[in-house]
Amino acid sequence: MRTLYLRLFLTTLLVMIMSSLLAFFLSNAYYQFYLKPVNDAKLTKMAEDVKAFYDENPEDPAGSYLTHVSNLGYQLYLVTDKNKGTFYGHAFRKNTLDRQTIQTVLSGGVYHGIRDYPSKIFITGFFENDLKNTIGLPVTINKKPYAMFMRPDTELQIGELRIFLAVLLLLTFAISVLLVVFSTRYLVAPITKLTEATKSISSGKYNIQLNVKRRDEIGRLASHFSQMAKSLDQLEASRQEFVSNVSHEIQSPLASIQGFSQTLQSRHLPEEERQHYLTIIEQESRRMSQLSKQLLTLASLDKEESLLDKKTYDLAAQLKQVILMTEWHWREKELAIDLELPEAFLYGDENLLHQVWTNLITNSIKYTEPGGTISISLKKQEDHCIVRITDTGIGISKKDQSFIFDRFYKADKARERKQASSGLGLAIVKKIIDLHDGKIDVQSEPGKGTAFQVTLPRR
Ligand SMILES: Nc1ncnc2c1ncn2[C@@H]1O[C@H](COP(=O)(O)OP(=O)(O)OP(=O)(O)O)[C@@H](O)[C@H]1O
Ligand SMILES: [Mg+2]
Repeated sequence: MRTLYLRLFLTTLLVMIMSSLLAFFLSNAYYQFYLKPVNDAKLTKMAEDVKAFYDENPEDPAGSYLTHVSNLGYQLYLVTDKNKGTFYGHAFRKNTLDRQTIQTVLSGGVYHGIRDYPSKIFITGFFENDLKNTIGLPVTINKKPYAMFMRPDTELQIGELRIFLAVLLLLTFAISVLLVVFSTRYLVAPITKLTEATKSISSGKYNIQLNVKRRDEIGRLASHFSQMAKSLDQLEASRQEFVSNVSHEIQSPLASIQGFSQTLQSRHLPEEERQHYLTIIEQESRRMSQLSKQLLTLASLDKEESLLDKKTYDLAAQLKQVILMTEWHWREKELAIDLELPEAFLYGDENLLHQVWTNLITNSIKYTEPGGTISISLKKQEDHCIVRITDTGIGISKKDQSFIFDRFYKADKARERKQASSGLGLAIVKKIIDLHDGKIDVQSEPGKGTAFQVTLPRR
């Protein structure tokens, strides 16, 4: 079975055949266990009517009454003790009856052949045109004892009904098959479309239009698939943007290193100027090394949460350590530092969170004019720690606030060169905080200052 279409079609067909067979067995069983005794009783009553007629009218030389009865839709067999018998109505398909049965009926017994007819799986006993499948009664005609056997002539009584039922069943089956052919096509069509779509995705075309309006599983699959294609498209775009950003970030320091080293090759250069150029070269290469470090950090953070090496440690001590580490910078700028750091323990990755505070605090120092103030406060709540880093610096415009966590985004382009920044710091910060199930908010007003608030779960 090569196609889903064929597979569905054949499965449905098989189900139909199996269920017909099962239905046949079950209705046969229903006849055998429930209808057979009822049918037997009904026929016994009719045979008794025939017997009653002969009790009232014993003379019937030509057996014409039995001919009438047979014309009304019955098959009869009349037999004497000498085993001479006459059939009325249509012939029986099997007409052997053992002597013993005939004798029993002749001597006054009632034969319940319909009730006692053996049950077989494949035969609906009701239709079995067998002399054994009859009711036997003793009757006296023309003063002679007879055994009379009788059963309904199904051919005569319900012949048309049988044809009607057969046509009904056949038509049901044929129409079902036809409908299955079409409905299967309807079911499978969107899957074929989806397959085409996956093909075009694997060949690099992400712009797919899937017009599946269905609301069922296939419809949902199609809509999820479209979403996936869209996000793959975005991913591809952001990947390209990332690569071009990285190239750009590498390109500019390389260009200045190249330029200054060319200048350095000239012989008539005062020692002072030479020193100046060498310092720039050193700064630029340090900047490139910093950039590659940040890129590596981002790449490893993108991988998996399982990379986190969490333990419980004192957050206040960590913040103080970062402030000590950056002391040289804020002293140089004569910034006032305002601290409110009560002891607070936190369960997290100490190294990664160290990078968070370093970036946020160096940003505050970087983007605050000399003489400003930086306040760092820590609040301990039942299951959260809140760290707030506020500065009185240049601030960030509303428009920029929504982009500062993007990779390579720098709000203040003019300052960028002097400050040796890459715009990756806050992207790394956000990533680390996300991995800790925390959140970071920014409040800022250009010219007045900025506040970053980090909320982290303590456990
Ligand atoms: N405290 C702040 N005050 C004013 N602007 C800020 C502040 N913090 C961040 N910004 C703005 O957000 C931008 C992104 O910050 P981010 O830390 O990601 O990059 P960066 O500091 O420029 O470079 P990097 O941290 O990679 O060296 C900065 O370029 C700056 O314009
Ligand atoms: Mg930064």
